[in-house]
Amino acid sequence: MGIEFSEAKKQFHLKNDYFSYIMEITEEGYLLQVYYGERLESFEQRLVYPRIDRSSFSPNPYELSNSGFSLDTVLQECPGYDTGDYREGMVDITYPDGTKATSLKYKGYQITKGKKKLTGLPATYTDTEEEAESLEIVLADEKRGLEVILLYTLFKNHSVMTKSARYVNCGTATISLNKALSMCLDLPDSDYELIQMPGAWAREKQLRRDSLVQGQHVLNSKRGASGVTQQPFLALASPETTERSGEVRAFHFVYSGNFTMKVEVDTYEQTRVLVGINEFNFCWQLESGADFQTPEVVMVYSNEGLNGMSQHFHHLYRKHLARGRYRDEERPVLINNWETTYFDFDEEKLLKLVTDAGKIGIELFVLDDGWFGQRHSDTTSLGDWIENKEKLPDGLLGLSEKVQKQQLKFGLWLEPEMISEESELFRAHPDWHLHVEGYPTSLGRNQLILDFSRKEVREAIMKQLTAILDKVPIDYIKWDMNRNMTEVGSQGRLPKQQQETAHRYILGLYEMLEELTTRYPDILFENCSGGGGRFDPGMCYYMPQSWASDNTDAIERLKIQYSTSMIFPPVMTCAQLSDSPNHQIGRSTDMDTRALVAMSANFGLMMNLEKKTEEELKKIAMYIQWYQANRQLIQFGSFYRLENPYTGNYGSWMFVDEERKHAVVMVFQILSQASKPLKKIRLLGLDPSTFYEVEGMVLSGAELMNFGLYLGQRLTGDFTALKLEIRAVEKRE
Ligand code: DGJ
Repeated sequence: MGIEFSEAKKQFHLKNDYFSYIMEITEEGYLLQVYYGERLESFEQRLVYPRIDRSSFSPNPYELSNSGFSLDTVLQECPGYDTGDYREGMVDITYPDGTKATSLKYKGYQITKGKKKLTGLPATYTDTEEEAESLEIVLADEKRGLEVILLYTLFKNHSVMTKSARYVNCGTATISLNKALSMCLDLPDSDYELIQMPGAWAREKQLRRDSLVQGQHVLNSKRGASGVTQQPFLALASPETTERSGEVRAFHFVYSGNFTMKVEVDTYEQTRVLVGINEFNFCWQLESGADFQTPEVVMVYSNEGLNGMSQHFHHLYRKHLARGRYRDEERPVLINNWETTYFDFDEEKLLKLVTDAGKIGIELFVLDDGWFGQRHSDTTSLGDWIENKEKLPDGLLGLSEKVQKQQLKFGLWLEPEMISEESELFRAHPDWHLHVEGYPTSLGRNQLILDFSRKEVREAIMKQLTAILDKVPIDYIKWDMNRNMTEVGSQGRLPKQQQETAHRYILGLYEMLEELTTRYPDILFENCSGGGGRFDPGMCYYMPQSWASDNTDAIERLKIQYSTSMIFPPVMTCAQLSDSPNHQIGRSTDMDTRALVAMSANFGLMMNLEKKTEEELKKIAMYIQWYQANRQLIQFGSFYRLENPYTGNYGSWMFVDEERKHAVVMVFQILSQASKPLKKIRLLGLDPSTFYEVEGMVLSGAELMNFGLYLGQRLTGDFTALKLEIRAVEKRE
């Protein structure tokens, strides 16, 4: 593996055991994209393509007049602006003279071991320098005094590369970055299908796959958060690619704010992928000598289908994105009081739930919304992080001690980025929220957003949080965020810098999370935004698990968790067993099915135990015991999707341990059918030459993966589920 530069060929070649990424510098200094795909030993062809026959509508750079070379048609690594490439570019900069033309040429490069941190931003990391190699390529537009430093990291043991860019103002005057994207990739063809995950609240990450057509496909968020409506992810798969085989190139943006991901198929049927911070509500004043670092993009190449892609994402995110004590530690089974009490609770009610939870083996109790200020509904008190003594007479400290006496850990819900108009904080600081002076501010869930781009605001909230965390033994925090940005203005910021607010907010949030996670390394943080509204790799850097959706209906969750698993491993994805009929959609589902869906990820409960029969409580205790005994496998094993609930009547998946000796398969039937075809399921991830005991039979891994396993007629009824355990055995004759 390694990054090589060939002087003779003027070619950069990044390659490991899985893929090659090749770029070339033309004689005139343009950095062109050559190849991204299956590993190649070398690449010898010269870039003769594409040259155009008639150039008047695709202009030539001045020094290449009438050469047939046009930036409009070549595959570029960092396309500029207004210099002949009419596709969308990576930059849009206003220079002091008011114009924007930008064209970048090669200046130099540097190869280093390991991977450097990106200042102030979350990013993938390595534990040792041997795990990766990095390349910096400096491009410049000398006339404009602009340098763009392209950063690449090649991971050794994964089919993963990361890309980002740093924009440096080497000129003498301030320039305005209207758009400064993180990466561009140009592919020489367009025979791809676009995989994306649009969604909505409680219907997050709905997998879609469509053919590409000429023109632009835009996936984005302008919400001030990565948002519920689109995950900052896209993949380009060959049409024949399935879960099990075929090529796919995937892109995931490590950022939690406004983003843009564009795929453009041009008139020559070439495909451009652009990823970066959205230009909406963004304009950065870059002073002379200053630089601007963009967030990074994780790129995964797989020629082993979508499951192959996910394996690389999962391993990378588990080991090179999640941090801290809980990166490698098993996560506790929790119970959260939200759907049991909503805002209507007192200590007695909570302790009843805690006692009942302790009896069935729950390890962590999470006190959700409603414990502070005058918070009896969602109209008040955000920003006043002081316990309500009517509800909790002995305060959080007293409650936590009582919870711990019952041998449970104690966790707390917070929504630190928000403020209610009806709060002490708002009365003291009526200008601390994002707003435009003299202009009405839209409300979302009756709340406003604190201006985290301002240091004094962050510090005041931090002071309130540390006052709790220094006093109360808290093992877990659920960090919620329940509305998106509007009227994004920051009091006191210069008019010309107002358009920096949305990004500065995210930088402020990251700074605060860095501080908190460093100061309280033993707290397990769970990321939440009304469910999965900000479940992105940026947040996963600070918080090793996320609440995937407010929708706890098992059948809806099949789809949400299926898509989530494209990128995030089960340990990062929280799922909870809840009551039936389901509170979000009203569906009634059998408890086994609900439990199996929830146990397919980072398992917990959000249910009213008081209303359960002895029989039901026994069952729940058994699920918990089973999960605890198998959680190493579920949380840290390899996860494979087997059947797609979006396209068929079944959803199924399996978990395989590292030694490939133990596996668990879960199969879910959505609707019952008469005279249905015989059900057979082909497994994945086993060792073909190992024999496994399953359902009283001894079968080879090869048979289970190639022929499959007959399931018979056991799945009868709507919304039913099945769990199979598979263990390696010595072959009996
Ligand atoms: C939204 C979260 O997703 C819920 O689980 C719950 O914590 C509520 N917020 C509380 O307001």
